[in-house]
Amino acid sequence: MLNTEALFRDLDEIGLTSWRDALSPILVDRLSDGAHGNLEQWKGVLADLPLAESEWAGPDGDAVVIGAEDISPEQAVRIRARLRELVPWRKGPFNVHGINLDAEWRSDMKWNRIRNAIAPLAGRKVLDVGCGNGYYAFRMKLAGAAAVVGIDPTLLFVCQFLALQKMSGATSIHVLPLRLHELPPESQAFDTTFSMGVLYHRRDPAGHLQQLRNTLRPGGELVLETLVLPGETPAVVQPDDRYARMRNVWHIPSIPALESWLHDAGLRNIRVADISRTTADEQRTTRWMPFESLAEALDPADSSLTIEGLPAPTRAVLTCSAN
Ligand SMILES: C[S@@+](CC[C@H](N)C(=O)[O-])C[C@H]1O[C@@H](n2cnc3c(N)ncnc32)[C@H](O)[C@@H]1O
Repeated sequence: MLNTEALFRDLDEIGLTSWRDALSPILVDRLSDGAHGNLEQWKGVLADLPLAESEWAGPDGDAVVIGAEDISPEQAVRIRARLRELVPWRKGPFNVHGINLDAEWRSDMKWNRIRNAIAPLAGRKVLDVGCGNGYYAFRMKLAGAAAVVGIDPTLLFVCQFLALQKMSGATSIHVLPLRLHELPPESQAFDTTFSMGVLYHRRDPAGHLQQLRNTLRPGGELVLETLVLPGETPAVVQPDDRYARMRNVWHIPSIPALESWLHDAGLRNIRVADISRTTADEQRTTRWMPFESLAEALDPADSSLTIEGLPAPTRAVLTCSAN
């Protein structure tokens, strides 16, 4: 399923030859039959999708363009039906052989807040932790990254990526079914590491930040995007049960609290690049994600609060560097 030859070639280039032995058995195990009840079906989808005939080159726009539009109507119907088997599509948009794959998130809106606030990606070796289906990995490659390694433990999202990669012909972009702590420690090899939408899902935020720092070469940049509380004083909310209907949100810090966590993890040059309230233009139910979304997670009488009475989702982007 994975093109491990290409992966290990890119890891060699990044200076991570030692990852081959460490990761090979985990990758085989994660994608083996029986690893997930739907994996056989998803493999069938991947096998049925057309292979790109040339190398992928973009263009760079809000929708990631995968595959040419000049296919027959019958082919388009078949590709659409196969991609529908991989619902829910959380991150997008993609234009797949002319099909408008409108995901739950307008991820282009986040990328447009981030792209000019970070060190230019041209020639950089990039790690994207919690990369989902690779929407941002494609955008990072189009921004000139030499190689992008994404990791995400959710097999459906890995399969979505593999479907898109097969049809795109994109090279030097990888999405691996791994959690951050499963990477060999202390790689210190990446020029830029992204962690977007992951920190609040981690029970041990300090440990997560430390692991992120250990992926960076000296002087490398961490781009952190996470939920924050409004306010100028250090504070952290730990939701009792759910937050905006999500079960696994463990803590939401204010910006000063987050800055102090980053400092404690040994990160420096901490800069707040953006703070934005999430809107229903950015996160919503679509044909490709037909379930409840942000609108159902907010208090119907007061959209500044979640349904649980906590501040509505606001997200910040911070950049900082490893010494
Ligand atoms: C809210 S989504 C964010 C996706 C994307 N980065 C974005 O900003 O739109 C969080 C993702 O992190 C992944 N994830 C959760 N725990 C993780 C871990 N320990 N290591 C890597 N990824 C993780 C989930 O599978 C999920 O796809």
